[in-house]
Amino acid sequence: MTEQHRFDERIAQEIAIEPQDWMPDEYRKTLIRQIGQHAHSEIVGMLPEGNWLTRAPSLKRKAILLAKVQDEAGHGLYLYSAAETLGCAREDIYQKMLDGRMKYSSIFNYPTLNWADIGVIGWLVDGAAIVNQVALCRTSYGPYARAMVKICKEESFHQRQGFEACNVLAQGSESQRQMLQDAINRFWWPALMMFGPNDDNSPNSAQSLAWKIKRFGNDELRQRFVDNTVPQVELLGMTVPDKDLRWNEETGHYEFGEIDWHEFNEVVAGRGLCNEERLAAKRKAWEEGAWVREAALAYAAKNVG
Ligand code: ACO
Repeated sequence: MTEQHRFDERIAQEIAIEPQDWMPDEYRKTLIRQIGQHAHSEIVGMLPEGNWLTRAPSLKRKAILLAKVQDEAGHGLYLYSAAETLGCAREDIYQKMLDGRMKYSSIFNYPTLNWADIGVIGWLVDGAAIVNQVALCRTSYGPYARAMVKICKEESFHQRQGFEACNVLAQGSESQRQMLQDAINRFWWPALMMFGPNDDNSPNSAQSLAWKIKRFGNDELRQRFVDNTVPQVELLGMTVPDKDLRWNEETGHYEFGEIDWHEFNEVVAGRGLCNEERLAAKRKAWEEGAWVREAALAYAAKNVG
């Protein structure tokens, strides 16, 4: 039996592929790309919320937000470790992100303008992330699947605290309700874009599905998110900014309007509202942290001998 054959059999039988197992080069490359992008998203994703740490409206909200932002850093670290099991160096993929040669999620290139944005990010953005990541708990690469289990538990807390913060605003004054609706209006479509291009325009999906790296197509997960979330928007007494949204009794799903793919492509190409600001912040942090890395290496070298 060839190595390829053994690999195909393990995929067919849903036996996880582990770091020491033989795997096709393209499988390894695809995983490094996806896990690397995922890790970068967690790390860059700390910035829009970090912006509100000093301005949270109460000590309770500040403590929750601080914990959430720290969780995102932890998720990034698990994911860089998972990527490293495939033989890449985290410094290398991190540098590629800083140079704009590796992507991170489009969603983090939108600004956080008011406090409601923070609730809406927890509720909608982490809500979308969970739909995608619950599916990845069964991805075929063992270290990635195991990282997802813990990450999903934490994301679930993030989503709930976001919805709870939105619920407080929804029951507040007229201007608080308007602030919430405005945040929903700005984040709804970018949240739908998180799932990636339509399946017809997704160059990686077919192979990733065959390898069971992805367990569902981009459109199916996006539909699941819409179906889950529209009733939550209604529960808050808010509206979805989509004139084409309607419930289809026959299919048991919501129909929704066309995503602005031009906007999506622009943001992914680096021309979104905050792309430059986000990368500049990460480059500054990397440069200013040089002394910490040097000190840690010197300390480790001293303690080896
Ligand atoms: N933002 C930025 N880039 C995107 C996005 C997005 N929302 N969606 C797709 N892309 C990129 C893909 O990375 C791919 O680029 P590449 O081939 O140059 O690497 C290209 O657009 C085409 O898309 P697909 O062929 O559909 O790519 P893929 O099969 O990788 O599917 C998806 C994209 C669904 C995002 C997948 O990579 C995935 O599930 N990743 C893990 C989850 C993740 O990264 N979440 C990050 C946000 S959640 C959070 O951090 C809180």
